[in-house]
Amino acid sequence: AMKQRLLVVANRLPVSAVRRGEDSWSLEISAGGLVSALLGVKDVDAKWIGWAGVNVPDEVGQRALTKALDEKRCIPVFLDEEIVHQYYNGYCNNILWPLFHYLGLPQEDRLATTRSFQSQFDAYKRANQMFADVVNQHYQEGDVVWCHDYHLMFLPKCLKEYNSSMKVGWFLHTPFPSSEIHRTLPSRSELLRSVLAADLVGFHTYDYARHFVSACTRILGLEGTPEGVEDQGRLTRVAAFPIGIDSDRFKRALELPAVKEHINELTQRFAGRKVMLGVDRLDMIKGIPQKILAFEKFLEENPTWRDKVVLLQIAVPTRTDVPEYQKLTSQVHEIVGRINGRFGTLTAVPIHHLDRSLDFHALCALYAVTDVALVTSLRDGMNLVSYEFVACQGEKRGVLILSEFAGAAQSLGAGALLVNPWNITEVAASIGYALNMPADEREKRHRHNYAHVTTHTAQDWAETFVSELNDTVVEAQLRT
Ligand code: UDP
Ligand code: G6P
Repeated sequence: AMKQRLLVVANRLPVSAVRRGEDSWSLEISAGGLVSALLGVKDVDAKWIGWAGVNVPDEVGQRALTKALDEKRCIPVFLDEEIVHQYYNGYCNNILWPLFHYLGLPQEDRLATTRSFQSQFDAYKRANQMFADVVNQHYQEGDVVWCHDYHLMFLPKCLKEYNSSMKVGWFLHTPFPSSEIHRTLPSRSELLRSVLAADLVGFHTYDYARHFVSACTRILGLEGTPEGVEDQGRLTRVAAFPIGIDSDRFKRALELPAVKEHINELTQRFAGRKVMLGVDRLDMIKGIPQKILAFEKFLEENPTWRDKVVLLQIAVPTRTDVPEYQKLTSQVHEIVGRINGRFGTLTAVPIHHLDRSLDFHALCALYAVTDVALVTSLRDGMNLVSYEFVACQGEKRGVLILSEFAGAAQSLGAGALLVNPWNITEVAASIGYALNMPADEREKRHRHNYAHVTTHTAQDWAETFVSELNDTVVEAQLRT
């Protein structure tokens, strides 16, 4: 049988482009859970459609970039500066992102945001239409079109308008909030209706799926069934598909001589100290200030630990044109500086804060030498960092402290220490508990998490979604 083609459509391509000359480009792996998970999916005939992260106004540049991306099976959608400003920085990351994570609109410029809402939403729809145009140019009959994330909620509708027999799935990588939150969006109904044009709609957890269905019943007055949402006899299937990672890729990396050497170096560098690790995009949802304040409280209350523990915080720069993210960066720098000033010595500081990304092998080595990983998201769709840490702990059996507000809390809850990141007293106590945890308890907790992470892979996730999408379309045809 011929392999079915898969068109993966996401705002962010797995590679981001950096211009080196008039017609020369270099490509770098993009950061974030969506890209990581999809890179972990093998053995499918997939093509990617998305934005390469740069503005390319000239035709020479566009042609050269299209060619460079083609080698990576990627197809670019070119967005100009104004669209990126209104659609990506504005509607996606200043409105939808904070709202879907229960953070509300940015405090300071709330009224300005409210005023620019309509023009940003218009740009959002225009951008989605541009993605649809590119999909339509490359679509062949029988293809499965899989749309991803909050950037592209309008896409299913645009695609079905082109071709009602296209198989269209949509998956959300963030939480879907309570309908009481979604209700406050001026574009609440239009967004729901366009998503419902898809054949299958997927979420990381059952809770997010349930929130989506109740938004549709309460806001649109449609009927929710155990299968999904029904509108005049037409069913949109809604279900939970928890994402995973390619754990073997991490295990293989740890076997490489270069990575082993790096592990040795790190072990020597931090000899005599326990290593605590945070790896996050520098995003409001990750609760980085809360995490650092909890660490400070722990040091404050446990003077004997002060020269025996170090916190390594990798904070990958992200969405740096959005003012909220700029504010967060300076806030975090200020707190880190204060604490290092307070507890540092001439030879050591308690917090190493890095404003940069790490390559895959350096990241694996860090995960492997970590004694306690700290994930303190205020909300997080899933959080793959927690999975990656577990995958790299085959030898060390370190402890995972995990926010109960991350989707991962539902899968790793039995092995992790779950915390409310807003409760700094509780997080500080958990740090103490984790650092002092006896080996047998660490072993038992690790085994729980490891079993989950190695058996619920990104591959399974994608296969399940695509086969469910195929089934859903067949069932719909049988009904009519
Ligand atoms: N990551 C990365 N570059 C880095 C550090 C981490 O690309 O320098 C990856 C990390 O390995 C993980 C992803 O970024 O796969 C973060 O995914 P997660 O689900 O934890 O959060 P998101 O960034 O999607 O909100
Ligand atoms: C989250 C989102 C992804 C996004 C990633 C990185 O994981 O769910 O859609 O790609 O963050 O953010 P960025 O804005 O750089 O694409």
